[in-house]
Amino acid sequence: PPERPLTGVRVLLTAGPTREPLDPVRFLGNRSSGRMGFALAEALEALGARVTLVAGPTSLPAPRVAERVDVETALEMHEAVMARAADCDLFVATAAVADYRPIDPAENKIKKNADELTLRLVRNPDILAEVAALPDPPFTVGFAAETDRVEEYARDKLARKGLNMIAANQVGGAQGGFERAENALSVIWRDDRRELPMMDKTRLARELARLIAERYQEHHAA
Ligand code: C5P
Repeated sequence: PPERPLTGVRVLLTAGPTREPLDPVRFLGNRSSGRMGFALAEALEALGARVTLVAGPTSLPAPRVAERVDVETALEMHEAVMARAADCDLFVATAAVADYRPIDPAENKIKKNADELTLRLVRNPDILAEVAALPDPPFTVGFAAETDRVEEYARDKLARKGLNMIAANQVGGAQGGFERAENALSVIWRDDRRELPMMDKTRLARELARLIAERYQEHHAA
């Protein structure tokens, strides 16, 4: 039935921030609450999908999804996703994955002896780009949180990472984005785009889920 257009579709979705340990008690993190991802996971389930949520640390109530895998670091998220990516139809990356991790986290708590401390960081794998580059990739949807030139950077990301769709939003300033209940999105794909205006993240997630379902169906009809 048209109101459950994703019935039987296996979705893998990442959400939340990652934490990159510096030592046993400290980490590098970011301001992602996971709220948009959790809301989108529930909205996709409501359209009939079977969602596996791979979640970084959040303080959100448990969402109604088929399966949940909790991770902490980007490497753990990468491993959890790559172990499941071949068995999904649709991959949605909402997680704010750390681009870099401390190269060699200290085994014991770092002491404040020196006046200066240098951190050496190393690149994390790009989970979304790797999934999109699989030999038989799922339909891939990415996010782009930008402070400026939102559309330009999003289009570039869509092409460079080989995605089917990208949802871009402005972060920083008084707009929506991280740590807020509301957000607005520009949803972009190869031959068109749709603007979802500023609204509550739960409603926004429902509208985005509808849009993803439409593009997913069209992709498979082609
Ligand atoms: O390149 P950038 O990090 O801005 O791309 C953001 C998109 O890529 C988001 O969908 C995010 O979840 C995903 N991503 C990822 N793994 C990374 C970095 C970003 O899956 N290491």
